[in-house]
Amino acid sequence: MREFDEASLTEAVIRRFGETPDPRLRQVMQALVGHLHAFVRDIEPSFEEWQTAIDFLTRTGQKCDDRRQEFILLSDTLGVSMLVDAINHRVAAGATPTTVLGPFYVENPPVLPLGTELAARAPGDRLHVSGRIAAAGGGPLPGAIVDVWQSDAEGFYDVQRPVGEAPELRARFEADAEGRFHFWTVVPSAYPVPTDGPVGEMLKATGRHPMRPAHIHFMISAPGHETLVTHVFADGDPYLDSDAVFGVKEALVRAFEQNPPGTAPDGRVMDTPWRSLTYDFALRPLAG
Ligand code: BEZ
Ligand code: FE
Repeated sequence: MREFDEASLTEAVIRRFGETPDPRLRQVMQALVGHLHAFVRDIEPSFEEWQTAIDFLTRTGQKCDDRRQEFILLSDTLGVSMLVDAINHRVAAGATPTTVLGPFYVENPPVLPLGTELAARAPGDRLHVSGRIAAAGGGPLPGAIVDVWQSDAEGFYDVQRPVGEAPELRARFEADAEGRFHFWTVVPSAYPVPTDGPVGEMLKATGRHPMRPAHIHFMISAPGHETLVTHVFADGDPYLDSDAVFGVKEALVRAFEQNPPGTAPDGRVMDTPWRSLTYDFALRPLAG
């Protein structure tokens, strides 16, 4: 057939992908065309509207570089990242829930001894963080690798600060022989996802706020276990029910306890009030 109309076009395009040698690629392309055409039939865009959509996606790509990934941010704010995460973590008996990686993870963070104080000179309430890494339904995981990263008390990640000025609010720790880890840091703040690009325009135009509730990121790995990518959120944060990227899970919300001056768990004597967070993580054993 040579000529197609509004009624016959979708099936014709789907059929055109019918000879795709890779069956998964064939399935993906045919489903993509089917859903995309259904969306266009539903919306019935004008030429101007379609051009606006093309321009939005073009600018989203143009905003990306090695420090900024606007397409991931788009996926996050449309809830797609959390949907992919949910689909890929359906069987998680006893394991700590996962959530988005986000754009601020940096490969090979500084390896620091347990007990280190991150950003000792950064303003903000001191926070003692401790916990234990274990296998879901099993024993402790000695030597587990615990990567942490977080915003500062003003809501900025170090990579958002000018180079050289940044307090390094990120580290890699190795859990001890009992799978335990601990470190000092500052209490993170809620913060906006980057809004100076097309995703920010989309949030503004749709009346959505860009805020994420305060959290600390963890990426935890141990041999024979699936790497856990998650956060712990501060209980009481006003944005827990409206996270801009839909990343909150109830089991990841924890009190960042208030403590009066006194002796902290590691023996450090605090002459001002301090906060503490304890969270035990469970990693999913790899199948097979
Ligand atoms: C973050 O938590 O760092 C983050 C996650 C998704 C989008 C933007 C930031
Ligand atoms: Fe974050």
